[in-house]
Amino acid sequence: MRLDIIDDAIVYMTDLLQGNADGHDAGHILRVYHNAMEIAAEYPDCDKELIGLSALLHDADDHKLFHTENNENARRFLSSHGIEKQTADRICKIINSVSFSENKDRRPDTLEGEIVQDADRLDAIGAVGIARTFLYSGGHSLGMDDSIRHFHEKLLLLKDLMNTEKAKELAQERHEFMLTFLKQLHMETGR
Ligand code: NI
Repeated sequence: MRLDIIDDAIVYMTDLLQGNADGHDAGHILRVYHNAMEIAAEYPDCDKELIGLSALLHDADDHKLFHTENNENARRFLSSHGIEKQTADRICKIINSVSFSENKDRRPDTLEGEIVQDADRLDAIGAVGIARTFLYSGGHSLGMDDSIRHFHEKLLLLKDLMNTEKAKELAQERHEFMLTFLKQLHMETGR
């Protein structure tokens, strides 16, 4: 894995996501990258550079944040770093298979895609998932009830949607923590 490209991708994404305080920020990108590397370590045959770059660039063209087409932001980075079109296509395919809302029941068709999807979903649950939910709600003028609904409609489902065994294992503790949080919240608020 070429660490200089990984470092550059971190800088590129930090720049691109500057000013985003709703949970899609540089912190999210870095956590997804680290989750992906932790899962990838369990699979000696997977392509770690492909996974690393896909994880770091996965929100480069998120339609909630950017109005780009054909993964323009991700491709600009990749071509400026001499990544061949064929590899860039593979990375963009992985990126496009990550989104929850656009791929509800569809599983990525490569191990690399499965790992990046799991890594992104892990960052949506647990303590960090709770924090990001309320950050997002605050940024979009949503209230407490909307936030709680989000747990039931999406976050509590993610544990069973993990692709890899390693991610299933990592998801378990995070899932239980969300249940504890919701139970306590219910006790305190009746919601
Ligand atoms: Ni993401």
